[in-house]
Amino acid sequence: MTGGRKGASHDMNLNVYIETYGCQMNVYDSELVKSILVQRGHHLVDRFDGADVVLINTCAIRERAHQKIYGRLQQLKRVRALRQSELTVGILGCMAQNLKQDLVDGRDEVDFVAGPDAYRHLPELIDASRGVAVADPAALEKAALKLSTTETYTGVDPVRSGGINAWIAVIRGCDNMCTFCVVPYTRGRERSRDPEGVVEEVRALVRDGYKQVTLLGQNVNSYRFGEVRFADLMRRVADVPGIERVRFISPHPKDFPVELIRAIAEHPKLCKHIHLPLQAGNDRVLELMRRTYTNAEFRALVDEMRGTIANLSLTTDVIVGFPTETAAEFDETVRLVDDVRFDAAFTFKYSERKGTYAQRKLRDDVSAAEKTRRIVELVELQKRITHEINRSLIGSTHDVLIEEHDEKRPGYVVGKTDHFKHTIFPADGAEIGDTVRVAIEGAHGATLYACALSAHAHAARRAVG
Ligand code: 5AD
Ligand code: SF4
Repeated sequence: MTGGRKGASHDMNLNVYIETYGCQMNVYDSELVKSILVQRGHHLVDRFDGADVVLINTCAIRERAHQKIYGRLQQLKRVRALRQSELTVGILGCMAQNLKQDLVDGRDEVDFVAGPDAYRHLPELIDASRGVAVADPAALEKAALKLSTTETYTGVDPVRSGGINAWIAVIRGCDNMCTFCVVPYTRGRERSRDPEGVVEEVRALVRDGYKQVTLLGQNVNSYRFGEVRFADLMRRVADVPGIERVRFISPHPKDFPVELIRAIAEHPKLCKHIHLPLQAGNDRVLELMRRTYTNAEFRALVDEMRGTIANLSLTTDVIVGFPTETAAEFDETVRLVDDVRFDAAFTFKYSERKGTYAQRKLRDDVSAAEKTRRIVELVELQKRITHEINRSLIGSTHDVLIEEHDEKRPGYVVGKTDHFKHTIFPADGAEIGDTVRVAIEGAHGATLYACALSAHAHAARRAVG
C-alpha cells in the first residue's frame, strides 16, 4: 500500500471502474463490490477513461489468466504515466490473494490488493490509497488479505447488470484440496449462506423480472446450512413462484447423493443439465489429484444420473498433462470421454499454481509439446461427439429461454434450451425473457439453429396481458 500520493480529502464521489476476469463467482463478486462502493457514495462507470479508481478483479486458476492480467497491468502502467492524475488502482480477487504483496512489490501502478473475503474493507482501502488517514493502516493491510471462515456477504445486495439470469453465491470457499487447484488458497474454507436469505433474494429477483437463477459455489453441491442440504436448497429455490429455471455450477462428483439426482429429475424448474468435472480418467492420476473417485465410480455416477434424469445433458472439465501422467494413462481419459459422450468438455493443459500440493511436491514433467498433443486429441474427439449429439437433436422440439438479440443476424434471437444448448432462431415476435417452443433444424459446432413453433402465440398472450 502506498498510503496517499496526494492530499487527504475524504472524497465520497469517486468514479469507479471495475474490470472482471475469471469465473462466474468473480463476476458475482464484482457485483458485491459495486454494491459496497455505491453504498459509500461512489459512482460506477463503465469506461476506463475518467475513472478515479480502477479495480481489477483477478483470477488465478490457470497460467493463461495470470498472463492476461499481467498484460493488463502493463497497459495500466502506461495509462497512469500518461494521465499523471490521481488514479487509484486496486487488484482484487484470487490472484491478489494468491500472490499477495508480490503483486504490489516493484509495481508502482498498483496501490493495494484485496482478497475475496476483504471486500467490505474496500472503501477504507481506497481512502488510504488516496491519502485519507485511516485508524490503523497496518491492520487494514492485513485485513485486506485475510481469508474468513464466516464471510458470506450477507446483507450486501449485488448490483446486477440485468439480463434474464441472476447469479447467487450460496457457498463460498472449498474444502476439497484437489492437488492442482489454487482455489482453497485464494478463497478459503467452505461456508454456506442461510437458505432463508437465498430464497428471499430469489423472490426479489423474480419481482425484478429475472427468469433464471444460477446457484454458485466453488463446490456448490457441498452446500450445507444446519440440516439443509443442497438438494433441499435447490427445491426451495425452484419452488419460488415465478422463477422459470434454476441452474448450478460447479459441483464435485463426490457430493451427488441420490436425493440431489432425484430432485433434478423431479422438479420441472431444475434444468436437466449437470456440469460434472472429470479432470482425468486414470485411477492413479485421479488419486494424485486427490479427486476421491475412480474411473469406475465416475462412470457409475453418470449411469445413475442418466438412469434417473430423462434427457440429461452432461458437460465436464478435463486437465491434460498432470505431473507424471503417462501417455497410456491419458488414453484412459480419452476412452472415458469417448464412452460417456459428454455434450461438451472444457479442456485444459495442466499449469502449476503457487502454493498447491502439485506445485510444491510434484514436478511439472509432461512437456509442453506432449500437453498440446493430448489436448488436441481430446478437443478433436469432443468436437466430433458434440457435433453428433447436436445433429441427433434435429427434428426435436425444445423450450428456449431467450437471452439476447443475435448481434450478427438482425431479427434473430439467442437463448438456451433447458439442456444448456445455445440456440438461434428468428424472433418472430418473441422478446428477451420469453420462453419459446422451437423445432431444431440444424446444428453447427456447439450451436443449434431452430424455428419457433409458438412465438406468435406467446406474443399474443403477452399482448392480452
Ligand atoms: N491447471 C490446469 N487446469 C486447471 N483447472 C484448475 N486448476 C488447474 C491447473 N492448475 C481447471 C479444472 C477446473 C477448471 C475450472 O479449471 O479443470 O475444473
Ligand atoms: Fe479463477 Fe478459481 Fe478464483 Fe474463479 S475461484 S476467479 S476460477 S481462481
